[in-house]
Amino acid sequence: MSKQHDVILEMKNVTRTFTQAGQKINALKKTDFTIKAGEMVAVIGPSGSGKTTFLTIAGGLQNPTHGTVIIRGKNITKLSQKQLSATRLNEVGFILQASNLVPFLTVEKQLKLLDKVYRRPTDTKGMTTLFKTLQIEKNRTKYPSDLSGGERQRAAIAKVLYGNSNLILADEPTASLDTTRAFEVISLLAKETHERKKATIIVTHDERLLKYCDAVYEMHDGELKKRKK
Ligand SMILES: Nc1ncnc2c1ncn2[C@@H]1O[C@H](COP(=O)(O)OP(=O)(O)OP(=O)(O)O)[C@@H](O)[C@H]1O
Ligand SMILES: [Mg+2]
Repeated sequence: MSKQHDVILEMKNVTRTFTQAGQKINALKKTDFTIKAGEMVAVIGPSGSGKTTFLTIAGGLQNPTHGTVIIRGKNITKLSQKQLSATRLNEVGFILQASNLVPFLTVEKQLKLLDKVYRRPTDTKGMTTLFKTLQIEKNRTKYPSDLSGGERQRAAIAKVLYGNSNLILADEPTASLDTTRAFEVISLLAKETHERKKATIIVTHDERLLKYCDAVYEMHDGELKKRKK
């Protein structure tokens, strides 16, 4: 890997304000953030503190009010909508609070769609291993609407891990999982991140998961701070 792309995501002076009913909300105050290949970090903080805002700006799902977001050397705040979509498709894998599954495709076909997008052959073995690890083997031919919340979440995780995005952004990926499954999912994300040199940011409320992360950030009233070890 070239040194230049050792840094997967860089955010400089990024802010986000919303105006609602004449009131200004500073959802994200001046933020500088960097994550390198092979790192998994957690973002924790109370409800409404700006975690989802931070994550969606990091992945180019919404624009910052000020500042720059750079993914593998490319300033994504300067791109046209079309270029931005292409960058997201190639670089970013989202696991969001609202599921990113396509409603009219079975779990298996969601993953096969990625093969079409990336013009590559289906990795049947890899796919089966993922389904087994995430314990959704029996759901491969089901549609998202026929899955439980936790199964849907794990299908979304399978989809992201089957893709080849360099940056993985996960908003509460273990929210509807029991403790054992939550640990399994987080250690799988950690393993993929370290072995395949991805950069992963996880928003979580669960303190027990933090030991799997290389660094922990705390968000308070739109302010992001690195927690001392
Ligand atoms: N589109 C929007 N329009 C107006 N205000 C918004 C918008 N999106 C977020 N906000 C506000 O910005 C602040 C941060 O919201 P955000 O969704 O980032 O919080 P969060 O930390 O993810 O919360 P949670 O843990 O509940 O998911 C909140 O005060 C929220 O009401
Ligand atoms: Mg949120």
